[in-house]
Amino acid sequence: MEVLDLIKERFSPYEFTDKQLTEKDLSTLFEAAGKAASAFNEQPWRFVYALRQNEESFKAIHDCLVDGNKGWTAGVAALVITVVSKNYAKNGTENTVAKHDLGLAVGNLTVQAQAMGISLHQMAGIIPENAINNLNIPEGFEPVTAIALGYYEGESGVKERKAVNEIAFNGSWN
Ligand SMILES: Cc1cc2nc3c(=O)[nH]c(=O)nc-3n(C[C@H](O)[C@H](O)[C@H](O)COP(=O)(O)O)c2cc1C
Repeated sequence: MEVLDLIKERFSPYEFTDKQLTEKDLSTLFEAAGKAASAFNEQPWRFVYALRQNEESFKAIHDCLVDGNKGWTAGVAALVITVVSKNYAKNGTENTVAKHDLGLAVGNLTVQAQAMGISLHQMAGIIPENAINNLNIPEGFEPVTAIALGYYEGESGVKERKAVNEIAFNGSWN
């Protein structure tokens, strides 16, 4: 079996159409995210989101982005700040794989979005203090990334990837 088209065709656009997303769209995407595996089923991921049509909350998230990401995201259909719970709920010790598990959840969200015709562009370029303050993120939680979402109508922007033999080693590193 070949790699799924949904996976092969995904890329992160810098331009999106004007088409809006709905609460229902976002709810479906977050439901997909929440199906990911996580250490001890901790589900350390959290998402704070805003649709463009909700101007005040959209601006609050947009203000959390670094300048380099502010320009191209001004008109996207939705913005999300991803957050992790830093410690295990059951015993308070550090969850050293919380961001790993957040990544799995965003991976699920990405594939679900691709199936729905929705594109994503993730960003490490955020100002965490702005997210904590603007979005009331509580103690014990850490903002990690932002995600721009919307519809893309243009040519494919799929990028080159490392070959499988550069990333996977049979038996030992070579
Ligand atoms: C965790 C993460 C952080 C990223 N941060 C930014 C960012 O701050 N600004 C940006 O323009 N792109 C950002 N990107 C997009 C990457 O540059 C992009 O995913 C990568 O070049 C591969 O391209 P593709 O997603 O189109 O396959 C980020 C992607 C990920 C997964």
